[in-house]
Amino acid sequence: MRRLKNAQMQTLALDASSTTPLHQQLFLGLRQAILEGRLTPNTRLPSSRSLAADLTVSRNTILSAYDQLTAEGYITSRIGAGSYVSGDLPDDLLQRKGTGAVPRLAKREIYISKMAASLMGSPVPRQYRGLPFSPGLPALDEFPFEDWARLLARHWRRPKREFLVDNPVGGSQVLREAIAAHLGQTRAVRCTADQVIILSGSQQAIHLVVRAFAEPGDSIWMEEPGYPGVRDAIIAASATPVSVPVDEEGFSLAQAKILAPQARLACISPSHQYPLGQTMSLARRLDLLQWAKEEGRFILEDDYDSEYRYVGRPLSSLQGLDEDNRVLYVGTMSKVMFSGLRVGYMVVPNDLVDVFLALRRNIDSHSPSVPEAALADFITEGYLSAHIRRMRLLYEKRQSCLVKLLGEKLGDILTINTQESGMHIVAFLPPAIPDSAVESAAIASGMLIRALSGFYNSPTDQNGLILGFAGTAEKEMPQLVDKLAHIIRNLSK
Ligand SMILES: Cc1ncc(COP(=O)(O)O)c(C=O)c1O
Repeated sequence: MRRLKNAQMQTLALDASSTTPLHQQLFLGLRQAILEGRLTPNTRLPSSRSLAADLTVSRNTILSAYDQLTAEGYITSRIGAGSYVSGDLPDDLLQRKGTGAVPRLAKREIYISKMAASLMGSPVPRQYRGLPFSPGLPALDEFPFEDWARLLARHWRRPKREFLVDNPVGGSQVLREAIAAHLGQTRAVRCTADQVIILSGSQQAIHLVVRAFAEPGDSIWMEEPGYPGVRDAIIAASATPVSVPVDEEGFSLAQAKILAPQARLACISPSHQYPLGQTMSLARRLDLLQWAKEEGRFILEDDYDSEYRYVGRPLSSLQGLDEDNRVLYVGTMSKVMFSGLRVGYMVVPNDLVDVFLALRRNIDSHSPSVPEAALADFITEGYLSAHIRRMRLLYEKRQSCLVKLLGEKLGDILTINTQESGMHIVAFLPPAIPDSAVESAAIASGMLIRALSGFYNSPTDQNGLILGFAGTAEKEMPQLVDKLAHIIRNLSK
């Protein structure tokens, strides 16, 4: 056994002004010395009393560091015999330097499941979603954060017990009630609070609906072009997305039946087709409901931004027309509030409530409950509808401004499709200017303008730009449209 010379401990520099407590500094210093081999196995450590005197710290500081080293197996302490560096530290542990640095990553083969690999190609990383023209980006600086903060504070200050533990899987009852009433008034959705299930965004709802009905390999209809999140959810469930071309009346059952007559589920956006914007005709809606009834199938209605309608009253949901409980209605707070809130919801037929509660419980039980309670107040006390009313007027002006500027600067190149609802427009390009090239150049200059062709699963000659107008202030638009004009004219040369 070697007795440690206290000189060896002089390398232990403790800093009394640091925010790291002295006992922690000592623990880390000794651990480092052991891992680097400066303190070798079986070396006897100084007694706590003498080390405390050497380092001019209290004896408790030393005892606390020794206790932690003992608990983690770096040293052993024998009553009456003192403390020793452990004799059986594995060699590979001793070779690790314990600096806290992330271990070097050598190149290696990793088996990734086909499902995970197929989800890797998402074209636009999330950090771009806040850029000007990002589709679906709301006017964040217009949000009533003061009111929102007050409601949150109210619930955090005196949280009800049920919001801290044992929150129901389907979400707080108060929020389910508030959303049921809100959807009844604004979207003609017919439901009770028990049919509403609160989720972490509508993407989660899409996942759960697909999982509830699809066996691996089953065909599921989605729109072409359509929301990539639907395709990803279908792939994640090992089912097969069947892309059904939409026309001016929206999703076509006749086309869908030709492509995959046995499909398990239809995923559609009937009020405002994503991304082209048309409304599904009444005849097509009734046909699809009839198909679902006759075949015992279900329809996922993605109602992602229908609150913003600039002509007449908001259209009624498909769910509100359904007499056979065949529609799973999905909505989100991401467009009317902000996507960071991560609140979406679904409304399901009564006999499917338990199925969806079980699916949600299997993932993460429920979303944070206190914000749910604040959101319930935000809805029932009228803040949400006031905000939506204000934003409807603002977005209408923003759309007109953008369309006017694009007409002035690019009217000879773009064919602009103005929207009666929603938060984005579609501007078609001539074939000589590929939309994907405009998308890349726009991202490089700080604008998220999406290529229409990217919303197709099959190769397409559709060529256009999706430009969100809601989240971009009118005063910034002239400069941004100039930048876009510059990009497009360069590509057309
Ligand atoms: C058409 C459509 N559906 C669903 C979603 C998912 O939204 P979230 O998961 O934020 O509720 C989005 C988001 O952009 C969307 O555009």
